[in-house]
Amino acid sequence: MMNKHPAAATAGGTGAAAEPAGSGRPAIHADHLTVVRGGHKVVDDLTFDVPAGTVTGLLGPSGCGKSTLMRAIVGTQAKVTGTLDVLGRPAGSAPLRARVGYVTQDPSVYGDLTARQNLDYYAAVLGVPRRERPAMVDRVLHDVDLADHGDSLTANLSGGQHSRVSLAVALLGSPELLVLDEPTVGLDPVLRRDLWNLFHRLAAERGTTLLISSHVMDEADRCQNLLLMRSGRLLADDSPDALRAGTGTGSVEDAFLHLVDEARKAESATD
Ligand SMILES: Nc1ncnc2c1ncn2[C@@H]1O[C@H](COP(=O)(O)OP(=O)(O)O)[C@@H](O)[C@H]1O
Ligand SMILES: [Mg+2]
Repeated sequence: MMNKHPAAATAGGTGAAAEPAGSGRPAIHADHLTVVRGGHKVVDDLTFDVPAGTVTGLLGPSGCGKSTLMRAIVGTQAKVTGTLDVLGRPAGSAPLRARVGYVTQDPSVYGDLTARQNLDYYAAVLGVPRRERPAMVDRVLHDVDLADHGDSLTANLSGGQHSRVSLAVALLGSPELLVLDEPTVGLDPVLRRDLWNLFHRLAAERGTTLLISSHVMDEADRCQNLLLMRSGRLLADDSPDALRAGTGTGSVEDAFLHLVDEARKAESATD
């Protein structure tokens, strides 16, 4: 698992904060991870690694536990048991705050502020001194290709630009791990492609690890590595190619359906 993406592992290490290239340590390590909400295991006994420096997709239908798992990873979820290490430390520990960027599923930027004002505000929240903020805000606007729209009111930006402002907020601290909850939902295919290209650029140029959720299976091929979830369980943890080959199917959607059928058969056999 750790050595599954040798090319991706050596692409890291360019950013000052990134893991040393080839260190081999996964960005996320989960072992028997369980989360209980409302008396139910909504994340149920997951064991997986997310290799450092990769773009990893967390795919599964709505309600399968993606957001809950992401909150556990960023340390904002209660009732988490099992092992969950992020960048070599227990999830949610204080030193990780600046090293992990998180964009929630719900809009977190203010429509009545400009992109620049939003970013300045969040930089202030992060404790960045006032004199350092303009350069930092310029840097992240540039990172997400919004340099020309910094002074536009966020409410007047398109859906894709809006997502980029949220992403820019997450980039303020130069995180080594980006956790993005359904960042491409509702975007047209061109904007989705542009965002995925941006994600890959961050992984390739900086060695950033990106964990990106989606309930749309056709986004799977944009990822180097996939975690497929259903009803709180992990159905597969593999590359798209290996998943198709292993299930004898032609698409990740068909692979998903095949794995669901297999899981059902296994369940009825043990009933
Ligand atoms: N506050 C809550 N109390 C109890 N169950 C919840 C709560 N919020 C969500 N759930 C349940 O947790 C499961 C996982 O939700 P979630 O992580 O949001 O899934 P996803 O992001 O994949 O759509 C769902 O089945 C949902 O019904
Ligand atoms: Mg969700």
